[in-house]
Amino acid sequence: MSIMVTGGAGYIGAHVVRLLQERGEDVVVVDDLSTGREDRVGDATLVELDVAGGDAQQLLEQVMREREVTGVVHFAARKQVGESVARPAWYFQQNVTGLANVVAAMEAVGADRLIFSSSAAVYGMPDVEIVTEDTDPRPINPYGETKLVGEWLIADAGRAWGLRAASLRYFNVAGAGWPDLGDPAVLNLVPMVLDRLAKGERPKVFGEDYPTTDGTCIRDYIHVLDLAHAHLAALDHLAGGDGGNLVLNVGTGQGASVKEVITEIGRVSGLDVTPDVEERRAGDPPRLVASADRIAEVLGWQTRNGLPEIIESAWEAWQAGPRRIG
Ligand code: WQD
Repeated sequence: MSIMVTGGAGYIGAHVVRLLQERGEDVVVVDDLSTGREDRVGDATLVELDVAGGDAQQLLEQVMREREVTGVVHFAARKQVGESVARPAWYFQQNVTGLANVVAAMEAVGADRLIFSSSAAVYGMPDVEIVTEDTDPRPINPYGETKLVGEWLIADAGRAWGLRAASLRYFNVAGAGWPDLGDPAVLNLVPMVLDRLAKGERPKVFGEDYPTTDGTCIRDYIHVLDLAHAHLAALDHLAGGDGGNLVLNVGTGQGASVKEVITEIGRVSGLDVTPDVEERRAGDPPRLVASADRIAEVLGWQTRNGLPEIIESAWEAWQAGPRRIG
């Protein structure tokens, strides 16, 4: 019996693959290697395949049967907000059709445990201090919409044929569980700051006139290894026969501002991180912090790492990579 991890060669997926392997599970990774890398999956079998491709459902069924897959952790998706605004149809095709193929294959082979990568992007611009799972989801871009539609599809499959699932709404993921598994993309605050520093440039702050303590946006930063552990806890919970359809925030309940994150990068790296302040970026909510109560209650999961560990591990991974600073 084995666990299938789609997108297992990506940033978060590779952490889950490594944790599953460490506890002796048989893992099969499905990844089209469009952003993932083969050297991140260790000894796991890698099947190169686009889950949104025309023949994906059949191919997935075949792999699931051959490897006796009982559970799926589904990461494979596109995740760039700006790109989703420019190419909405492609985002729905990739993210929604991709998930539909995975769920259809699971139904066909009788695999009934699914962990789905959802996102805090489903909430859009919430007008509450702390976001609970009952906060109205009102996504403001196609990326967030595809994640919400994914949650609906999963709930429908639960009602139709008994799929047991957990949709995990990730907040701002950063850091590295191992130095070789750092975030390879330069799309989010921490890697964007490190990228600027590596070029000998100043970090950028997108707006310092928000209604927050220091005027910069507040986010809930979660260590990627803590997030990976949440996936294992969810898989185990579903294996226990409980189940149904869980929707859980994965965050820490603590917010940090852009300036606090940059200051922490300065502390850890010893570099001058004096930023350039730019205009606000369109679509940024001033504050997005999770309530992490439900996941603690249901899965008994809590974060172990705070901002210092996130930044220290991100720095260590950056320095182990090709663009070492200093
Ligand atoms: C964080 C804060 C920026 C870079 C996005 C997606 C979300 C999820 C995670 C995927 C913001 C500010 C950033 C910089 C800055 N995606 N910033 N200078 O926007 O909270 O969330 O990534 O699954 O769906 O929307 O994350 O890291 O881009 O930005 O000041 O150089 O840092 O304006 O306030 P965001 P982020």
